[in-house]
Amino acid sequence: MVVGDLVSAEALTDELSRRYTLNSAIFSADRAAAEDLGRARELDLQLCQGCHTDKVGTEKILPAYPLREMAANMPSDEFLARLLSGVRGASDTALANPLSLGDIRGLLRLYQEDTVD
Ligand code: HEC
Repeated sequence: MVVGDLVSAEALTDELSRRYTLNSAIFSADRAAAEDLGRARELDLQLCQGCHTDKVGTEKILPAYPLREMAANMPSDEFLARLLSGVRGASDTALANPLSLGDIRGLLRLYQEDTVD
């Protein structure tokens, strides 16, 4: 039965991704304006680095994966999907992702660009 459940779960996820295709083109890092990248750097430094630290050996209460490393180790569409569905805001906005289109483009550029360096 467990194998059957996995097969039907896989069929369901295939069906969902066919019906609700992620429009990755509109989030493309290539479309990030210079100010998007600048704002993304600031957001990353002020917010994200508090948990997703890039510094090896830093003591953290809440260690989370370094985002540049995460971006380097998965297809860019998957990283985009995680950025869209994994980042949450506050309860007064029903935990909606607070990042704007420009923020997402800038963050993709920041994390993907830096992996090439
Ligand atoms: C309070 C700590 C904290 C802050 C601040 C934070 N994160 Fe996270 N983030 C986490 C943790 C913990 C996870 C889960 C890590 C895991 O899966 O083990 C996570 C997961 C993620 C994921 C993966 C989500 C998924 O579905 O796989 C992304 C992408 C991400 N964070 C991006 C960001 C970005 C961008 C920022 C800054 C705007 C940010 N995070 C700020 C703690 C934080």
